[in-house]
Amino acid sequence: MEEELKSILEAVENEIQSIGAAAEFEQYKARISGPNGSFTALSKQISKLPVEERPIAGKLINQYKQRLQALWDAATKRLETLALAQKIGAPVDPTLFSTEAPYGSRHLLTQVREEIVHTLRKIGFVVADGPEVETEYYCFDALNTPKDHPARDLQDTYYLKQQEPFGNVSRKEDDERYLLRTHTSSVQIRTMLEEEPPIRIIAPGRCFRRDTADATHSANFHQIEALYVDKGVTVRDLKADLDYLFRSLLGPDAKTRFRPHYFSYTEPSFEVDLKAQHLGKVGSEWMEIMGCGMVDPAVFEEVGYDPNVWTGYAFGLGIERIAMSLYGVDDIRYLFQNDVRLLSQFK
Ligand code: DAH
Repeated sequence: MEEELKSILEAVENEIQSIGAAAEFEQYKARISGPNGSFTALSKQISKLPVEERPIAGKLINQYKQRLQALWDAATKRLETLALAQKIGAPVDPTLFSTEAPYGSRHLLTQVREEIVHTLRKIGFVVADGPEVETEYYCFDALNTPKDHPARDLQDTYYLKQQEPFGNVSRKEDDERYLLRTHTSSVQIRTMLEEEPPIRIIAPGRCFRRDTADATHSANFHQIEALYVDKGVTVRDLKADLDYLFRSLLGPDAKTRFRPHYFSYTEPSFEVDLKAQHLGKVGSEWMEIMGCGMVDPAVFEEVGYDPNVWTGYAFGLGIERIAMSLYGVDDIRYLFQNDVRLLSQFK
């Protein structure tokens, strides 16, 4: 009997190493130790032995049973470790230095915003801030766009529930509605109500409109607003400062063109077209890029500046629009998807 027990054990010792999966192991184990297994069959033979031989045989069988169990246990452990390693991959030492720590980069919109802000700061503008949740007064009324004004439809937007509390956003009237600002022009009003002229501010920030997203529209976008108030400011200052801005951004051959337009807070108002030789998209044709104009006397009156003394210009430009034309991004949605394949191209 010992011979047979030994040969079963040796066979198991040899064969068990090549088993690589838990299911295979269970089958194999059943063939040896299961109810119909070879080892089980052998241990059952004890009942056929003469009574006096049984204690010795029993002891022997127990010894082999234990050795066999040790093999099963070792195999179970080995297979568990193997399965875990397959799941989590090769072992790593997290304390080692990484030789290729990848550098992140600023988002394209951040880069373009910072470049514009940097360029305008050089000619004396300081950055001003305003809330993204606005009230109708700052977003429209004070900008000479009363409730029944058709220009307001174009910017009809996300209004917030009347009772929604925004303690940090001041209201002119108690029953004014809150809304997500449709443009950064509201910062003009907030600044003028707080400060005395002369003023030179730029206000970069997020804006919202009820637009259906497509290649050129997004319900969420960014603008930079500029306001310059002083004595004797003319359209020539406006044109010269915009030429300076675009030449700094795009190179000395960048040209701007003013087209008459309507904005309720500036008079006269213009749309600005841009052209620059070396830029594929805006190289050969004029491209409409932003709005601007001379601050309307009605706006000055609203904030308590004397329109006979003070003059000023204002402009607002869309950061996405500039970024897309500078870098040839042809769908605005790419800018908000955070796909590293796009982002990593602008380091
Ligand atoms: N607020 C305008 C818009 O969102 C842009 C604009 C036009 C801003 C003329 C101005 C301006 O300051 O004078 O389309």
